[in-house]
Amino acid sequence: MTIDTCIFDAYGTLFDVTSAARLAAEEGSHPALAERWQKVAADWRERQLQYTWIRAITGEHADFWQVTSESLDYALEASGLGGESGLRDRLKELYVDLAAYPEAPAMLERLKDAGLATGILSNGSPEMLQSAAKSAGIGRLLDHVLSVESVGIYKPSSKVYDLVNRAFDCAKDGVLYVSSNGWDVAAAAGYGFRTAWVNRAGQPMDRLPWRPDHVLDDLTGVPDLAGSI
Ligand code: 2OP
Repeated sequence: MTIDTCIFDAYGTLFDVTSAARLAAEEGSHPALAERWQKVAADWRERQLQYTWIRAITGEHADFWQVTSESLDYALEASGLGGESGLRDRLKELYVDLAAYPEAPAMLERLKDAGLATGILSNGSPEMLQSAAKSAGIGRLLDHVLSVESVGIYKPSSKVYDLVNRAFDCAKDGVLYVSSNGWDVAAAAGYGFRTAWVNRAGQPMDRLPWRPDHVLDDLTGVPDLAGSI
């Protein structure tokens, strides 16, 4: 089966989740953040994902904006920045319009030029995803932007991956699923998609029951990979 649909995870894959803390530090309005932004970004992301998994397992769903806000509160306190006036609000503002990785727009253009269907499948709320796609200038290059809010449970529930067929009416093995999150791309492989892990940080392969079919350094190679499968 050839690939006719490319689906992308959003946060960490198309959008750089560390860019909010990095940009806030670069702005210089919060000097205490300058040498702590990387810990804030790491703690923020780690707790954000942990909270989604706990909520998925227990059925206590809350949307990604709430989870992102609550995990930010944890991260700021963990770095002694919980009382920094205005910092929390500024970081949340920056998170709404996260920077896209530089190679993302041209990669999506190539996929559209090749006639493939494209989409996002993300834990993000519809409002978050629409805002991020718009500010990154890639909204016109996506046929569908799919949020877990449609099913009220987070990845890696199979109910989330089911959203792809509902929107695109495509066969599982005609989908190339691309994610930078090892746990997400492994679960997508187990679900039956063809998969590519974008391993920007050169991390080890996760020890999970499933493995991604392909590993890439960044998004640049996605169109060639989709055309070669
Ligand atoms: C996303 O669903 C996993 O946070 C990542 O966009």
